[in-house]
Amino acid sequence: MEGLIITISHMGGLKAIEGTNKDDLGIETMTTITPPALGEPYLLTPGPLTTSEATKRAMLRDWGSWDGDFRAMTQDMRDRLLAMLGQGADEFDCVPMQGSGTFAVEAMLGSFVPRDGKVLVLANGAYGLRSAKTLEYLGRDHVVLDKGDYLPPRGDEVAQILADDPAITHVVAIHCETSSGILNPVEEISQVTYAAGRKLLIDSMSAFGAIPLEVGTIRYEAMVSSANKCIEGVPGFGFVIARKSELEAAKGNSHSLSLDVHAQWAHMNKTGQWRFTPPTHVVAAFLEALRGHEAEGGVAGRGARYADNRDVMVAGMRGLGFETLLKDRWLSPIIVTFFCPADPAFEFARFYEVMKDKGFIIYPGKLTVVDSFRIGCIGQMDGDVMRQVVCAAGETLAEMGVSDATPPAIALKEREILAA
Ligand SMILES: Cc1ncc(COP(=O)(O)O)c(C=O)c1O
Repeated sequence: MEGLIITISHMGGLKAIEGTNKDDLGIETMTTITPPALGEPYLLTPGPLTTSEATKRAMLRDWGSWDGDFRAMTQDMRDRLLAMLGQGADEFDCVPMQGSGTFAVEAMLGSFVPRDGKVLVLANGAYGLRSAKTLEYLGRDHVVLDKGDYLPPRGDEVAQILADDPAITHVVAIHCETSSGILNPVEEISQVTYAAGRKLLIDSMSAFGAIPLEVGTIRYEAMVSSANKCIEGVPGFGFVIARKSELEAAKGNSHSLSLDVHAQWAHMNKTGQWRFTPPTHVVAAFLEALRGHEAEGGVAGRGARYADNRDVMVAGMRGLGFETLLKDRWLSPIIVTFFCPADPAFEFARFYEVMKDKGFIIYPGKLTVVDSFRIGCIGQMDGDVMRQVVCAAGETLAEMGVSDATPPAIALKEREILAA
């Protein structure tokens, strides 16, 4: 651990590493990522995340929501998002919805599940449970396969539930369950869902744009994501991408005026406008972020950078003694959960504050059984930034007097369940 103790100093609001043992860390000095210009900390969080200077700058002018220029921007954005679906995308359309990601999930569930439908929700964390809660509010019949904090829902168990309950019409799956960081096996889930003649809806909030969801490879009826995730825009709207036949069929299903995906779609296609005040600046920023996404090589390029971020960060944190909740097979390139060390000198609140002081905002854990924290891999960061994160973590442990980052035995025992 000694080689990881470095000095990080403020330089004109930015951070610079001094005296680093670069050989030990394998630090490369070149980076294509520009640090936040105002010197704010990097957001190692699953959105809002650190955005590019160009994306922030795109918000410096005002747009009229009815004006042709803004209507063209909305259409451009919808087209670019659809193009990410690959072959077969012409059978789908993209419907942006004002609000955060949860609004878009609620819009999808309320619009595509008919009032007499029944949903199987696959839950292994907070966002699966939130979908179930949403269906409860909507008064839509549903059952939940609850796998606890992080165990993945597998195809065979989904197939069994569908075989046992013919009333189920839809399955809802979470692509990356951001509360643990697990990448759920959506292809496997899609196969058994359609083999049983049911329909799949996917919450791909934190994965879309970095993890492929091409309709030629995986079958589904609709998916949602939002502006401030892997496309690296700022918060303000979500978007539903759905099969056109499902959009047609959704007429009259919604419980809500503002969250009616069919109505938003029909209005947008007819007028080029959003039904209610659009987040104009957010859309402008998002378009710029989409250009950056394309310049990076689209989903493949973005996914590769995030995977590198994860690999550098996880290797470094493991080098400090930290342990991940998940085995490598399940680790997403989106966010990673680490167990808190057993050392009594470790206290997450202090760890968080010292890390922030060093320029990195991390994220608390969401596990119910053991203490944990999360570090995100998404946003305007690269391997060089992730090495700095690891350096800062090592330095923070030393400042806190934590000599050993090993988690408590109960945490490791919990992890064995996943391996079994
Ligand atoms: C998988 C998933 N679903 C839903 C949401 C909810 O999105 P929001 O917090 O923007 O409402 C999130 C947020 O991170 C998420 O990761």
